[in-house]
Amino acid sequence: MKIIRAKDYNDMSRKAANIISAQVIMKPNCVLGLATGSTPIGTYAQLVEWYKKGDLDFSEVTTVNLDEYKGLTRDNEQSYYYFMKENLFSKVNINLERTFLPDGMEPDSDKACEDYNRVIAHVGGVDLQLLGLGHNGHIGFNEPGMAFEAETHCVNLTESTMKANQRFFPTMDDVPKQAYTMGIKTIMQAKRILVVVSGEDKAAIVKEAFFGPITPKVQASVLQLHNDVTIVADAAALSLI
Ligand code: F6R
Repeated sequence: MKIIRAKDYNDMSRKAANIISAQVIMKPNCVLGLATGSTPIGTYAQLVEWYKKGDLDFSEVTTVNLDEYKGLTRDNEQSYYYFMKENLFSKVNINLERTFLPDGMEPDSDKACEDYNRVIAHVGGVDLQLLGLGHNGHIGFNEPGMAFEAETHCVNLTESTMKANQRFFPTMDDVPKQAYTMGIKTIMQAKRILVVVSGEDKAAIVKEAFFGPITPKVQASVLQLHNDVTIVADAAALSLI
């Protein structure tokens, strides 16, 4: 596990974008596993900037996102599909037919999850998986206690995750209660993993997840067992280690 110390959020975003762009340059037809949330927004903005300068080409890249809310249409501003379109897909020359997320509008959870597992297998697995870190240690929507063996599955979101998401919705009632997410097994099968973390409010969970015991109570702790994990974190997020 390699930890790269960044000065602040912008520096973290640039350093993470550097790792992703190196992946795309070294293997133009790579499969990127992508995350949503506030942390990677600056990373995507940096990738877009380098694309606009002509330094990056996404034409052969395939992407598979970690998760999607169940029940939100793609054109719902809070869907992860919409997020990805806004922050990356519509701003670079990626082929939209090679961008994949779980199908939030598939009401049959088993079918949605099996279909997504098949997509990931069909594209040949993930070369580089980008992850954010939840305050309770979740990665994707893998909440505390979930078995490490899980592949893509449907989760009932915890109260704390719904509260954290509330800022994106008009009222608590609008916050989706379920989501489809890659499981820990799926995430651990990625060849390389890149975690981005920013802010003092993540300092305690950074310490617990990466320097504490490996336990399903802290889902991200399993990353200690992966042989190619890079954490890019700013000084505030690293302030307790
Ligand atoms: C997003 C995801 C989540 C977030 C995590 C951190 O696709 O799966 O695990 O990465 O909740 O979110 P932020 O970056 O908003 O703190």
